[in-house]
Amino acid sequence: MRGRRVYELDRLHAKYGPIVRIGPDEVSISDWRHLRTIYHAKSGVIKDARFCDPIRMFGQHNIFQMIDPAEHAARRKLSSSPYSLQSIAQLDPIIQKQSLEVICQAGFAKEFTGPTATDDARHLLDLIDGSAAAFMYSASIPFASIRGVGSRLPGPIGASYRAFADWQQVSRDMVDHFLQHSSEETKYLLNPLSQSTDRFLNRKLAHNELVEEAMTYMFAGSGTTSTTLTYILYEIAKPNHRHI
Ligand code: HEM
Repeated sequence: MRGRRVYELDRLHAKYGPIVRIGPDEVSISDWRHLRTIYHAKSGVIKDARFCDPIRMFGQHNIFQMIDPAEHAARRKLSSSPYSLQSIAQLDPIIQKQSLEVICQAGFAKEFTGPTATDDARHLLDLIDGSAAAFMYSASIPFASIRGVGSRLPGPIGASYRAFADWQQVSRDMVDHFLQHSSEETKYLLNPLSQSTDRFLNRKLAHNELVEEAMTYMFAGSGTTSTTLTYILYEIAKPNHRHI
Protein backbone atom coordinates (compact mmCIF):
# COMPACT_ATOMS: atom_id res chain seq x y z
CA MET A 1 0.00 0.00 0.00
CA ARG A 2 2.94 2.34 0.57
CA GLY A 3 4.34 1.61 -2.90
CA ARG A 4 7.52 -0.01 -1.54
CA ARG A 5 7.05 -3.37 -3.27
CA VAL A 6 9.91 -2.87 -5.75
CA TYR A 7 12.35 -2.09 -2.94
CA GLU A 8 11.31 -5.16 -0.99
CA LEU A 9 11.68 -7.34 -4.10
CA ASP A 10 15.11 -5.83 -4.76
CA ARG A 11 16.14 -6.67 -1.19
CA LEU A 12 14.92 -10.28 -1.56
CA HIS A 13 16.79 -10.72 -4.86
CA ALA A 14 20.00 -9.35 -3.29
CA LYS A 15 19.63 -11.93 -0.52
CA TYR A 16 18.35 -15.02 -2.42
CA GLY A 17 19.40 -14.58 -6.05
CA PRO A 18 17.63 -13.98 -9.38
CA ILE A 19 14.60 -16.24 -8.76
CA VAL A 20 12.59 -15.78 -5.57
CA ARG A 21 9.31 -17.43 -4.66
CA ILE A 22 7.25 -14.59 -3.15
CA GLY A 23 3.91 -16.31 -2.61
CA PRO A 24 2.13 -19.67 -2.90
CA ASP A 25 1.90 -19.33 -6.69
CA GLU A 26 4.10 -16.35 -7.48
CA VAL A 27 7.76 -16.09 -8.47
CA SER A 28 9.81 -12.92 -8.95
CA ILE A 29 12.57 -13.03 -11.58
CA SER A 30 15.21 -10.30 -11.76
CA ASP A 31 17.59 -11.68 -14.42
CA TRP A 32 17.03 -9.76 -17.69
CA ARG A 33 18.15 -12.83 -19.68
CA HIS A 34 14.77 -14.38 -18.91
CA LEU A 35 12.93 -11.48 -20.54
CA ARG A 36 12.37 -13.22 -23.87
CA THR A 37 11.47 -16.52 -22.23
CA ILE A 38 8.65 -14.77 -20.41
CA TYR A 39 7.57 -11.79 -22.49
CA HIS A 40 8.04 -12.92 -26.08
CA ALA A 41 4.66 -13.01 -27.84
CA LYS A 42 5.12 -16.71 -28.63
CA SER A 43 6.56 -17.70 -25.23
CA GLY A 44 3.31 -19.34 -24.13
CA VAL A 45 3.50 -17.46 -20.82
CA ILE A 46 0.09 -15.85 -20.33
CA LYS A 47 -0.52 -12.74 -18.23
CA ASP A 48 -2.24 -13.16 -14.87
CA ALA A 49 -5.82 -11.87 -14.91
CA ARG A 50 -5.60 -10.84 -11.24
CA PHE A 51 -2.90 -8.36 -12.20
CA CYS A 52 -4.09 -7.34 -15.67
CA ASP A 53 -7.84 -7.22 -15.42
CA PRO A 54 -7.95 -4.17 -13.11
CA ILE A 55 -6.02 -2.23 -15.78
CA ARG A 56 -9.26 -1.02 -17.33
CA MET A 57 -9.44 2.63 -18.20
CA PHE A 58 -13.11 2.96 -19.04
CA GLY A 59 -14.40 -0.39 -17.81
CA GLN A 60 -13.84 -2.02 -21.23
CA HIS A 61 -11.22 -4.41 -22.61
CA ASN A 62 -7.97 -2.93 -23.93
CA ILE A 63 -4.77 -4.21 -25.53
CA PHE A 64 -2.84 -4.17 -22.23
CA GLN A 65 -5.47 -6.00 -20.24
CA MET A 66 -6.34 -8.72 -22.82
CA ILE A 67 -5.12 -12.18 -21.87
CA ASP A 68 -6.89 -14.33 -24.47
CA PRO A 69 -4.28 -14.69 -27.29
CA ALA A 70 -6.97 -14.56 -30.03
CA GLU A 71 -8.55 -11.40 -28.60
CA HIS A 72 -5.14 -9.76 -28.20
CA ALA A 73 -3.93 -10.75 -31.69
CA ALA A 74 -7.06 -9.27 -33.29
CA ARG A 75 -6.71 -5.95 -31.43
CA ARG A 76 -3.03 -5.85 -32.26
CA LYS A 77 -3.77 -6.40 -35.95
CA LEU A 78 -6.53 -3.79 -35.90
CA SER A 79 -4.29 -1.13 -34.35
CA SER A 80 -1.01 -1.85 -36.14
CA SER A 81 -1.18 0.14 -39.42
CA PRO A 82 -0.23 3.59 -37.99
CA TYR A 83 2.91 2.02 -36.48
CA SER A 84 4.45 1.17 -39.88
CA LEU A 85 7.59 3.12 -40.75
CA GLN A 86 5.78 4.75 -43.67
CA SER A 87 2.91 5.90 -41.48
CA ILE A 88 5.14 7.12 -38.66
CA ALA A 89 7.00 9.21 -41.25
CA GLN A 90 3.74 11.10 -41.85
CA LEU A 91 3.45 11.81 -38.13
CA ASP A 92 7.05 13.00 -37.93
CA PRO A 93 6.42 16.65 -38.94
CA ILE A 94 3.51 16.89 -36.50
CA ILE A 95 5.65 15.44 -33.71
CA GLN A 96 8.54 17.80 -34.53
CA LYS A 97 6.20 20.78 -34.18
CA GLN A 98 5.04 19.83 -30.71
CA SER A 99 6.71 21.38 -27.72
CA LEU A 100 4.35 20.05 -25.06
CA GLU A 101 2.49 16.90 -25.68
CA VAL A 102 3.11 14.38 -28.42
CA ILE A 103 1.06 11.29 -27.73
CA CYS A 104 -2.35 13.01 -27.84
CA GLN A 105 -1.41 14.66 -31.13
CA ALA A 106 -0.11 11.44 -32.72
CA GLY A 107 -2.93 9.44 -31.20
CA PHE A 108 -5.95 11.55 -31.98
CA ALA A 109 -4.98 14.94 -33.41
CA LYS A 110 -5.33 16.77 -30.09
CA GLU A 111 -3.49 20.08 -30.17
CA PHE A 112 -2.73 22.09 -27.09
CA THR A 113 -2.69 25.66 -28.39
CA GLY A 114 -3.44 29.19 -27.21
CA PRO A 115 -2.61 31.00 -23.98
CA THR A 116 -3.74 28.11 -21.73
CA ALA A 117 -1.87 25.41 -23.69
CA THR A 118 0.77 24.78 -21.02
CA ASP A 119 -1.78 24.68 -18.21
CA ASP A 120 -4.13 22.40 -20.19
CA ALA A 121 -1.38 19.90 -21.03
CA ARG A 122 -0.07 20.06 -17.46
CA HIS A 123 -3.58 19.46 -16.11
CA LEU A 124 -4.00 16.36 -18.30
CA LEU A 125 -0.62 14.96 -17.23
CA ASP A 126 -1.49 15.61 -13.57
CA LEU A 127 -4.75 13.69 -14.02
CA ILE A 128 -2.96 10.73 -15.64
CA ASP A 129 -0.26 10.79 -12.96
CA GLY A 130 -2.84 11.16 -10.21
CA SER A 131 -4.87 8.21 -11.54
CA ALA A 132 -2.02 5.72 -11.27
CA ALA A 133 -2.65 4.95 -7.60
CA ALA A 134 -6.32 4.13 -8.35
CA PHE A 135 -5.19 1.11 -10.40
CA MET A 136 -3.16 -0.14 -7.45
CA TYR A 137 -6.07 0.38 -5.07
CA SER A 138 -8.53 -1.30 -7.46
CA ALA A 139 -6.28 -4.37 -7.60
CA SER A 140 -5.79 -4.46 -3.81
CA ILE A 141 -9.29 -3.44 -2.67
CA PRO A 142 -11.69 -4.38 -5.51
CA PHE A 143 -14.77 -2.87 -3.82
CA ALA A 144 -13.23 0.59 -4.32
CA SER A 145 -13.62 0.26 -8.08
CA ILE A 146 -17.37 -0.36 -7.85
CA ARG A 147 -19.01 2.58 -9.55
CA GLY A 148 -18.47 5.82 -7.65
CA VAL A 149 -17.25 4.23 -4.39
CA GLY A 150 -13.57 5.18 -4.83
CA SER A 151 -14.28 8.85 -5.53
CA ARG A 152 -16.16 9.19 -2.25
CA LEU A 153 -13.32 7.83 -0.12
CA PRO A 154 -11.34 10.39 1.92
CA GLY A 155 -7.66 11.26 1.59
CA PRO A 156 -5.26 10.25 -1.17
CA ILE A 157 -7.29 7.19 -2.21
CA GLY A 158 -10.38 9.30 -3.01
CA ALA A 159 -8.21 11.96 -4.68
CA SER A 160 -6.75 9.33 -6.98
CA TYR A 161 -10.22 8.04 -7.98
CA ARG A 162 -11.41 11.61 -8.60
CA ALA A 163 -8.39 12.29 -10.84
CA PHE A 164 -9.22 9.09 -12.69
CA ALA A 165 -12.86 10.15 -13.20
CA ASP A 166 -11.74 13.56 -14.50
CA TRP A 167 -9.25 11.95 -16.85
CA GLN A 168 -12.04 9.72 -18.21
CA GLN A 169 -14.15 12.81 -18.95
CA VAL A 170 -11.28 14.68 -20.65
CA SER A 171 -10.53 11.56 -22.72
CA ARG A 172 -14.13 11.17 -23.82
CA ASP A 173 -14.11 14.80 -25.01
CA MET A 174 -10.86 14.28 -26.93
CA VAL A 175 -12.19 11.16 -28.66
CA ASP A 176 -15.42 12.95 -29.60
CA HIS A 177 -13.41 15.83 -31.06
CA PHE A 178 -11.29 13.36 -33.03
CA LEU A 179 -14.37 11.53 -34.36
CA GLN A 180 -15.89 14.82 -35.51
CA HIS A 181 -12.79 16.27 -37.18
CA SER A 182 -9.95 13.86 -37.95
CA SER A 183 -11.05 10.22 -37.79
CA GLU A 184 -10.67 9.73 -41.58
CA GLU A 185 -6.96 10.58 -41.52
CA THR A 186 -5.05 7.32 -41.59
CA LYS A 187 -1.88 8.58 -39.88
CA TYR A 188 -3.46 8.95 -36.43
CA LEU A 189 -3.16 5.98 -34.07
CA LEU A 190 -6.88 5.97 -33.36
CA ASN A 191 -7.83 5.87 -37.06
CA PRO A 192 -7.99 2.09 -37.65
CA LEU A 193 -9.50 1.52 -34.21
CA SER A 194 -12.33 3.91 -35.05
CA GLN A 195 -12.84 2.85 -38.68
CA SER A 196 -12.11 -0.87 -39.13
CA THR A 197 -13.55 -4.14 -37.88
CA ASP A 198 -12.04 -6.00 -34.92
CA ARG A 199 -11.74 -9.60 -36.16
CA PHE A 200 -12.23 -11.08 -32.70
CA LEU A 201 -15.43 -9.12 -32.03
CA ASN A 202 -16.53 -9.18 -35.70
CA ARG A 203 -17.62 -5.57 -35.43
CA LYS A 204 -16.26 -2.07 -35.07
CA LEU A 205 -15.34 -0.89 -31.59
CA ALA A 206 -18.09 0.86 -29.64
CA HIS A 207 -17.52 4.42 -28.44
CA ASN A 208 -16.65 3.29 -24.89
CA GLU A 209 -14.12 0.81 -26.28
CA LEU A 210 -12.52 3.56 -28.32
CA VAL A 211 -12.16 5.84 -25.28
CA GLU A 212 -10.69 2.84 -23.45
CA GLU A 213 -7.93 2.43 -26.06
CA ALA A 214 -7.34 6.20 -26.29
CA MET A 215 -6.66 6.23 -22.55
CA THR A 216 -4.22 3.33 -22.82
CA TYR A 217 -2.35 5.29 -25.50
CA MET A 218 -2.06 8.30 -23.22
CA PHE A 219 -0.87 6.07 -20.39
CA ALA A 220 1.49 4.07 -22.64
CA GLY A 221 3.04 7.10 -24.29
CA SER A 222 3.57 9.61 -21.48
CA GLY A 223 5.14 8.28 -18.25
CA THR A 224 7.18 5.68 -20.15
CA THR A 225 8.79 8.24 -22.43
CA SER A 226 9.33 10.94 -19.78
CA THR A 227 10.83 8.47 -17.31
CA THR A 228 13.17 7.02 -19.96
CA LEU A 229 14.28 10.51 -21.03
CA THR A 230 14.80 11.51 -17.39
CA TYR A 231 17.07 8.51 -16.79
CA ILE A 232 18.97 9.15 -20.02
CA LEU A 233 19.59 12.79 -19.04
CA TYR A 234 20.63 11.70 -15.54
CA GLU A 235 23.08 9.13 -16.93
CA ILE A 236 24.68 11.42 -19.51
CA ALA A 237 25.02 14.19 -16.89
CA LYS A 238 27.37 11.99 -14.84
CA PRO A 239 31.07 12.93 -15.00
CA ASN A 240 32.09 9.53 -16.40
CA HIS A 241 29.77 10.11 -19.39
CA ARG A 242 31.26 13.52 -20.19
CA HIS A 243 32.45 12.23 -23.60
CA ILE A 244 28.76 11.78 -24.64
C1 HEM B 1 10.37 4.61 -23.71
C2 HEM B 1 9.07 4.57 -23.82
C3 HEM B 1 8.25 3.31 -23.65
C4 HEM B 1 8.46 2.24 -22.85
C5 HEM B 1 9.59 2.01 -21.86
C6 HEM B 1 7.36 1.30 -23.10
C7 HEM B 1 7.21 0.07 -22.47
C8 HEM B 1 6.24 -0.86 -22.76
C9 HEM B 1 6.08 -2.15 -22.11
C10 HEM B 1 6.95 -2.70 -20.98
C11 HEM B 1 5.02 -2.77 -22.69
C12 HEM B 1 4.44 -4.15 -22.34
C13 HEM B 1 3.32 -3.95 -21.36
C14 HEM B 1 2.53 -5.21 -21.09
O1 HEM B 1 2.44 -6.09 -21.94
O2 HEM B 1 1.93 -5.30 -20.01
C15 HEM B 1 4.49 -1.88 -23.71
C16 HEM B 1 3.41 -2.15 -24.50
C17 HEM B 1 2.80 -1.23 -25.34
N1 HEM B 1 3.22 0.06 -25.58
FE1 HEM B 1 4.91 0.91 -24.87
N2 HEM B 1 6.52 1.83 -24.04
C18 HEM B 1 7.01 3.07 -24.40
C19 HEM B 1 6.45 3.95 -25.28
C20 HEM B 1 5.24 3.76 -25.93
C21 HEM B 1 4.59 4.74 -26.79
C22 HEM B 1 5.15 6.13 -27.11
C23 HEM B 1 3.43 4.18 -27.23
C24 HEM B 1 2.36 4.75 -28.13
C25 HEM B 1 2.64 5.33 -29.26
C26 HEM B 1 3.36 2.84 -26.67
C27 HEM B 1 2.34 1.95 -26.91
C28 HEM B 1 2.30 0.65 -26.43
C29 HEM B 1 1.24 -0.28 -26.74
C30 HEM B 1 0.02 -0.02 -27.62
C31 HEM B 1 1.56 -1.49 -26.06
C32 HEM B 1 0.74 -2.79 -26.06
C33 HEM B 1 1.32 -3.74 -27.07
C34 HEM B 1 0.64 -5.10 -27.07
O3 HEM B 1 0.16 -5.58 -26.03
O4 HEM B 1 0.61 -5.73 -28.14
N3 HEM B 1 4.48 2.63 -25.90
N4 HEM B 1 5.26 -0.73 -23.73
